[in-house]
Parts: sequence; C-alpha cells; structure tokens
Amino acid sequence: TASVAASLPADKFLIIAHRGASAYAPEHSLLSYGLAVQMKADYIELDVHMTKDGELVSMHDPFVHLPDGRKWIAEVDFQELKKVHRESDYDGKLTVSLPEGIDPLRIVSTEEIFSYFQDDVNYYIELKSPASYPGIEEALLGQLREFGLLPLEDAELPKIILQSFDAASLKKVHEQEPAIPLIQLYSAKNETMLTKKQLEKVAEYASGIGMDKSIVTKELVELVHGVDLHVHPFTVNEEQEIRRMIEIGADGIFTDMPDVAVEVLEEE
Ligand code: G3P
Ligand code: CA
Repeated sequence: TASVAASLPADKFLIIAHRGASAYAPEHSLLSYGLAVQMKADYIELDVHMTKDGELVSMHDPFVHLPDGRKWIAEVDFQELKKVHRESDYDGKLTVSLPEGIDPLRIVSTEEIFSYFQDDVNYYIELKSPASYPGIEEALLGQLREFGLLPLEDAELPKIILQSFDAASLKKVHEQEPAIPLIQLYSAKNETMLTKKQLEKVAEYASGIGMDKSIVTKELVELVHGVDLHVHPFTVNEEQEIRRMIEIGADGIFTDMPDVAVEVLEEE
C-alpha cells in the first residue's frame, strides 16, 4: 500500500482557473489558459479525456459535435478534434503570447499544453470519467514525467494536483505517485455521504475535496479540516461569493474569473 496522502500548503488560498480564464475565452483553449496565467492564477485547470488514437485532450464534455453527428471522445481521433471550430469574442485587453502554428482557440492535447507552458505554471488536472479510458492514469503520469513536471520537490506550490470524481482512479494514482496531492470531487447529490468517517477514508489517499459551492458551509469546512483535508469549492465567480469562501475558511476556489479573485485577495 502507498504512504499517506501528500500535503497541500497551509494558509494559502488557491486561485484555480476553471477551464482557464473561461469567462473571457473559449474554455480549455490556449488563449483561456494563457489569460489565466497573465491574471496570476495559481493553477490552470484541465479536464482530461482520451481519444480513440490514445491522445490525452483537455476539454469538458465527453462528446463532441462533428459534421457527421455527436461522437464520444473515445470514438474519435485527435485529428478530428483539431478541426472543431471555436470562436472567441475576447476583447484583447490583456496581451497573451501564444505559440505559433497552433490556433489558440482549438481543442488541445495535454502534450501541447505541457510543451507550451512547461513548468512555468501549475496544473490542476481532472481525470474525467477515467473508467471510460483504461490506462489514462498511466498515460498522464508518463507525460508528466516526460515533461519534467514530476517529481514535485522544492516547489513553492505543488506543480501538479490531480482531481477526479472517481475514487478508484485517484487511488490508482496514489499507489504510483504518492507525492501528488489528490482532490476527491463530489457532486452535490452526494453531500449526505460526507460524514467524518467517510472523510477519514478519503484522507488516506487524498489531500482535499472539491465540491459545488452551494453545499460548502462553515460547518462543512470545519468538518473537513478536522480530518486534515482541504476544500476547494466550484465554481466561484462573484466577488461576494469569493469573500464568503475566504471567510468560512475554504482553501481555494475554482473560478472562471481569476482576475476578480486576485483582486479580492489583494484587498483582504
Ligand atoms: O473539477 C472541478 C469542477 O470543474 C468539476 O466540475 O464539470 O466543471 O469539471 P466540471
Ligand atoms: Ca473540472
């Protein structure tokens, strides 16, 4: 069995750019991630799936609309995804330097993301429905090693945080790379599961939990902290809500507007 769960920095409220700075640019595009970096988010958030030809891609939905209909990501080659047209009405207020030769709005692979941002940013990566993609954990860990993003020693913040709704997948990662902080995600409907006993089990492999902001109360934060887990609510965009999350002791937020969160934190 693997060792205890990795720890997350205490007393640092993490600004996690949800799908990049996705309020301003197409989610999960290089533009969206680039904007998040410019806005000084602590992490860019990726949602990872695997294509038919084994490419890891970052996009939210497990399916895509192609000219010949709706297809599961697992049924299409990366080549097809590259052709999906996405538009942006980004006003260009912040200058983002972007790679040459890649449409900054298109669906990108994790290899493209890692080779562009290297270790200049921190990555908060979700394994999305990993049960649909056998071997996705090993494939992702392999890439992280290849790009020098593991191991994580000496970083002020962990370079990599992994998250999933799928506990089995997280445990698999924990067995192989116990130094990576893991976040167990919950959907709102599972809130009733969150007893102290449940959370103690989670703390054996994970460093924190992520859940919808609507169920994150001061009492919940205290319960979670009581078993040494952190909590990252999603998706928190309004100034008022950000302040409330800081006040009740949440350890960070997923936000589509990292610039707003940075401003609020500076004022606090
Ligand atoms: O990963 C945290 C949060 O992003 C989960 O919801 O659907 O936006 O990936 P979703
Ligand atoms: Ca996500």
